[in-house]
Amino acid sequence: GGAVEASLRARIRQVPGYPVPGVTFLDITPLLADGAALGQAVEALAAAVAGIEFDRVLGIEARGFILGAPLAVRLGKGFIPARKPGKLPLEVARQEYQLEYGQAAIEVHQDAIRPGDRILIVDDVLATGGTSAAAAALVEQLGGRVAGFAYLIEIVALGGRRRLGDRPVRVVLPS
Ligand code: PRP
Ligand code: MG
Repeated sequence: GGAVEASLRARIRQVPGYPVPGVTFLDITPLLADGAALGQAVEALAAAVAGIEFDRVLGIEARGFILGAPLAVRLGKGFIPARKPGKLPLEVARQEYQLEYGQAAIEVHQDAIRPGDRILIVDDVLATGGTSAAAAALVEQLGGRVAGFAYLIEIVALGGRRRLGDRPVRVVLPS
């Protein structure tokens, strides 16, 4: 409801000029530090994805882990980490992408996704959509299907949704 949404919004700080000039960083650490708010955020994500059928949650390092893992637990699903390069020990699929502030890549273990698996991609923020589009490409590279995307926050003005195709996109806090 509105009170929960307002409480969550009040615990997200905007930091202009971080990490580079022209970018405003959304700092969710006050929200994470508040047990009630953290629980409400996970609960709101669970409610937002109700109706999407999927097998496992894929969370994107690092902030996608913080919300994706508790969401997976809440829904009784397994969790797949999409990691920054060089962190996974076995064979990986890799996808490079552009950030608002630089070049990046993410990797998943090749055996993390089996053909036909339905994967829910979770992250804290949908900004330009580059990170999430890369995650979706990884899922599909391994024969999985992207069941949908879920975010705590969407920066609507950046238009990242356009890069996510016609799959369901669920957001707790549009901004
Ligand atoms: C941030 C955020 C999302 C992504 C959103 O992650 O957590 O993953 O950027 O931006 P996009 O939609 O424009 O791709 P960041 O790469 O800063 O790293 P972190 O999660 O490890 O802090
Ligand atoms: Mg991130």
